[in-house]
Amino acid sequence: MRKKIVAGNWKMNKSYEEALSLVSEIDNMVKDEVNGDVAVIVAPPFPYLQSVGKLVQGNDKMHLAAQNVSEYESGAYTGDVSASMLKSVGVEYVIIGHSERRLYHHEDAQTLYKKMKLSIAQGLKPIFCCGEPLEERDADRHFEYVGQQLKDSVSYLSNQEFDQIVVAYEPIWAIGTGKTASSQQAQEMHAYIREQLSRMFDAEAAYNCTILYGGSCNPGNAQELFAQEDIDGGLIGGASLKSRDFTDIIKSF
Ligand code: PGA
Repeated sequence: MRKKIVAGNWKMNKSYEEALSLVSEIDNMVKDEVNGDVAVIVAPPFPYLQSVGKLVQGNDKMHLAAQNVSEYESGAYTGDVSASMLKSVGVEYVIIGHSERRLYHHEDAQTLYKKMKLSIAQGLKPIFCCGEPLEERDADRHFEYVGQQLKDSVSYLSNQEFDQIVVAYEPIWAIGTGKTASSQQAQEMHAYIREQLSRMFDAEAAYNCTILYGGSCNPGNAQELFAQEDIDGGLIGGASLKSRDFTDIIKSF
């Protein structure tokens, strides 16, 4: 069965103390208020992973993600963090191919494929991000654009590897802009993504793949988005930095 997920991508925000308070608040609210079958993921910056992980250890709804991983296994790669290092400190998921990494760090499709492959080999679950810039949507090329992103990175995975990934559709024009895709725009793209995946792998595997929506998701729009047939949860940026908002999004299923 397809898993429901709400993941908080904290990006480069919060001091260490603030990060610990945020995750404690989320952990308590999830314990007290969330009954349904939903996996909650928090993705703090690298230096906080272990401490944040320890705080959520006793809560089986809560899971730990990293925001990035190296495309190399080990060695002389100053500043990089490997998949095995992440695994060894309790990380379960890793965000790969976020548009900010594609844009500011020039991560290309092949690099993203390598990151996914190495992560899966270490037992991590990649959250693979895709999504079109505004000019592609305005030119009515958004399906083609996202389809190509999947083809260039995800299609090279084996069937077994594919079973380990989560996909996040994040239209770039909606990230951090307060401008959300309408539930209809999001649903039609999610259905398209699932159809592309069913051609690359098989229909059952594609049906079971969790596809998250990301881009200015908030407590006011989450319910309508999550009610769509092919939307299985959200990848949340800004609103994941506030425990009340994040928990209200988790409760929107
Ligand atoms: P946002 O970010 O919710 O602040 O738009 C989403 C993301 O980048 O994952």
